[in-house]
Parts: sequence; C-alpha cells; structure tokens
Amino acid sequence: MRIGILCSGGDAPGMNPVIRSVVRCASSLGHEVVGIRRGFRGLIEGDFVELRSRDVGGILDRGGTILLSSREERFRELEYRERSYENLKIKKIDALIVLGGEGTFKGAELIAEETGLPVIGIPCTIDNDVGGTEYCIGYDTALRNAVDAIDKIRDTASSHERIFLVEVMGRKRGFIAVEAGLATGAELILVPEEDFPREEIPEEIRSAKELGKLHFIIVMAEGYGKAEELREFLLDRIGERYGEIRATVLGHLQRGGIPTHTDRIMGMKFGEVAVEVLLSGEGKGFVAYEKGKFYIEDFRKAGEYKDIDREALRLSRRLNL
Ligand code: F6P
Repeated sequence: MRIGILCSGGDAPGMNPVIRSVVRCASSLGHEVVGIRRGFRGLIEGDFVELRSRDVGGILDRGGTILLSSREERFRELEYRERSYENLKIKKIDALIVLGGEGTFKGAELIAEETGLPVIGIPCTIDNDVGGTEYCIGYDTALRNAVDAIDKIRDTASSHERIFLVEVMGRKRGFIAVEAGLATGAELILVPEEDFPREEIPEEIRSAKELGKLHFIIVMAEGYGKAEELREFLLDRIGERYGEIRATVLGHLQRGGIPTHTDRIMGMKFGEVAVEVLLSGEGKGFVAYEKGKFYIEDFRKAGEYKDIDREALRLSRRLNL
C-alpha cells in the first residue's frame, strides 16, 4: 500500500511525532508513505515527497510540521479537488491520512466520498474542539505554553498590583482558557461557552482587591472577545482606581515549541492506529480517543459540540478567595 499523509489548517505541536509514527509503522509492515506538502494546497499542486524511516529521524522534539500546512480555500471547489484526485492517481496513492481539525475533516470526507479511497483523520488542533474525541494533538503543548506565559505575567502583575487581561487562543471555544486559567489561579476565566456579562467584571475586581489580592488576572478565550476591547471597556467603567490595566495577547506563541511528552506519545499512538486501521481495510473516519481507548469515528462527529470542563470552571471560582 502507498499511504499519503498531509497536515492541514493551523499546525499543532505533536504533528511531527504523528508523521514519524505513520512512516515507521507503515515501513515496518512493508508499506510506503508519501508526504503531501502544505496540506490540500500540495494535493492540488502535486507537491509530493517520498518519506522513508530515515527522513523522519530527529523530529520528535520539533513543533510545527515538517510537511508544512496551509488553509486552502480552493479545495472547496470541485475543479481543484478533481485536479487533486488526478495527482493522487499519478502518484499511485491508495489511501490517505489527514492531520487537522474539524474543517480539515470536511475535506477528508469529501475525498473519501468522491474517490472511494480510504481516508483516516487524526485530530490535531490546539483548540481541542473536535467532537467525539477527548484528545486532540497539540492541546497539551499549547496549555503548557499558556500556563508558562501566564505564570510570568502574574509575577509582574503582582509587583505592580495590576489588572491583566490575558487573551488565549480558541477561536470559538474556551478549552485553553479554562484549563490554563485554573492552573494559574486566574481571578476570572471568560469563555464563549458562558455568557459572563462584562458589566459584572468591575465588581469582581473590586471585591478581589478588598480581599487583599495584589493582582487581578483575567484569562479570556479569543472566542469571548478581544482583550484590548475589554481593557477599553474597563478603563471607561472603573478607570485605574483598582490598579493599572494591561492587556496581553498570547497569540501564536501558544502554537509553537517542543511538544510535551504527552503530545509526543499520543501522537505516536494515534499514528499507529491510523496505519493499522487503513491496513485492515477500514474506509473512512477519524481516530478518536475516549476513556482510554482508540476508536474510529464518523467524520461528521467531529462537528458535534464537545463541552469544556465545567468542573474546572466551577473549581476555579471556588478557589478564588
Ligand atoms: O485553529 C487553531 C488556531 O490557533 C485558533 O486558536 C486561532 O484562532 C487560529 O488557529 C489562528 O489562525 P491563523 O494561524 O491562521 O492566524
């Protein structure tokens, strides 16, 4: 079998361990792997590269993806997909493994349906927002990065007795905000899943300051709003009577860096499952991890709502005394 592999959408630390695992698991069983560069863009443009065991050496500790990634809008158009299918034929690809999030899986499902090729997805996104799977590659490393950054911000926030608004990634969802907020003892966590009225924030700040807190750190998901806009709002309402107000957007630094051991190990396991599933003749779906076990889920399940850790949110409020 010749298995094609690509990464699409936002990169996620841990993609490289997945690639290494796919290449070496397939090789160990006598199969070939072909890397497709820049995701669906590479499929359209025929940018393919043979991957052998030695080609994926020394990449376990590298963030990003050696295959490069892109957000390719043209793949929505049949004309470009047909061009891609022609390239798959020319390169004699028998099956595909696709790394990415929910949007990527929509493309993966189209390929499976329109070509009949077996296509298996592996959930990789720091947003952790793929339905049907507890684990998404990259989330653990992004959390480590966010926690590390917020810990540093707390030092300076305390020294200057400031109010800090820290915006973390999570386009539509608050997974990073909730866990990074709890882990760093943030005074307030704001997520799109919860309608926390911003009019109530001044009172939260006032009562925390009355408790004798030096700083007030708000960890907010980008899906809740922009840190700078919230800062303007607070300046307008309370000025700086409870401390100077600063806003920090952690942005893409959350998405880079050495993958954590968990993202590496899970990446290797996800990769092995994907190869074995393809070799067993299974058609399409993505590898999901639930309650300690791997399953193959229907691609559509990826779009289903997966809730944030409400218990973590509750606990962070309880501990905020
Ligand atoms: O999907 C992952 C993610 O990092 C989101 O958290 C963020 O909103 C988005 O990608 C940023 O995308 P880009 O790298 O294209 O700016």
